[in-house]
Amino acid sequence: MTSTARRVLVVVPTYNERESLPGALERLAEHAPDADVLVVDDGSPDGTADLAEKLSEIDAPHRGRTAIHVLRRTAKEGLGPAYLAGFAWALERGYDVVVEMDADGSHRAQDLPKLLARSGDAELVIGSRWVKGGTVVNWPLRREVLSRGANLYIRIAIGTSIKDATAGFRAYRADLLRAMPLADVSSQGYGFQVDMTLRARKAGARIVEVPITFVEREHGVSKMSGGIIGEALVSVAKWGAAERAHQVAGAFRRVVGRG
Ligand code: GDD
Ligand code: MN
Repeated sequence: MTSTARRVLVVVPTYNERESLPGALERLAEHAPDADVLVVDDGSPDGTADLAEKLSEIDAPHRGRTAIHVLRRTAKEGLGPAYLAGFAWALERGYDVVVEMDADGSHRAQDLPKLLARSGDAELVIGSRWVKGGTVVNWPLRREVLSRGANLYIRIAIGTSIKDATAGFRAYRADLLRAMPLADVSSQGYGFQVDMTLRARKAGARIVEVPITFVEREHGVSKMSGGIIGEALVSVAKWGAAERAHQVAGAFRRVVGRG
């Protein structure tokens, strides 16, 4: 089976995740021992990058074949730019599958094999909270309402059947990332995930959702702000309008062509 020979890189963006990162890396080593990890840190004042580097050395004998790499960036620029730097790093080094995963424990390493299994026949696999079998643990009702509402809004505005377009636990095949224009992606937070979903769709990717259990973080605080929610809402409205204009133009061409 070729899938065992695929090289997988899990990109983990961090900003002040000192308390959460060790557990996340340990569980990854346990459940995905063949995957390498790249921690992309934006100069966390709490020393997350130093800790990650230490863990990559100290824990090595227990980790089997997994390698932990650390990419240090100097300023906090948001989730999107951190992931883009991680993707570029992965593509330069010839990885076949690139995974997005949070450091705070919300994405369970035990769900990763499921995502990787599907990445054989889909270029983008989304770990989804809002398909049958997916769920969230320890989320306040208002977060659930916000996420479900945002995803409903996205489905209507953009005309997609994807249930969790803001999800941050994903597996991209490298060939898809290479085919997607990434130079002009400017979204930072939740909008980044929606933006990437749309770009994948435009690139003709097969996209599948697999159910996951999303567990709210135990340590530290969310790095997303109200501004990031606002950015996402405005962007989706814009993308939705562009998408509809495109559909109308297509229908118009078909009608004219027929006449
Ligand atoms: N390098 C870097 N720079 N990492 C960051 C930054 C940044 O500016 N901002 C956040 N991160 C890291 C965090 O340290 C964490 O590992 C991960 O990105 C997610 O950040 P959280 O602050 O935990 O965000 P969240 O839980 O609100 O968002 C998650 O769920 C959303 C959907 O509900 C993420 O998975 C999002 O991608 C997803 O859209
Ligand atoms: Mn989180």
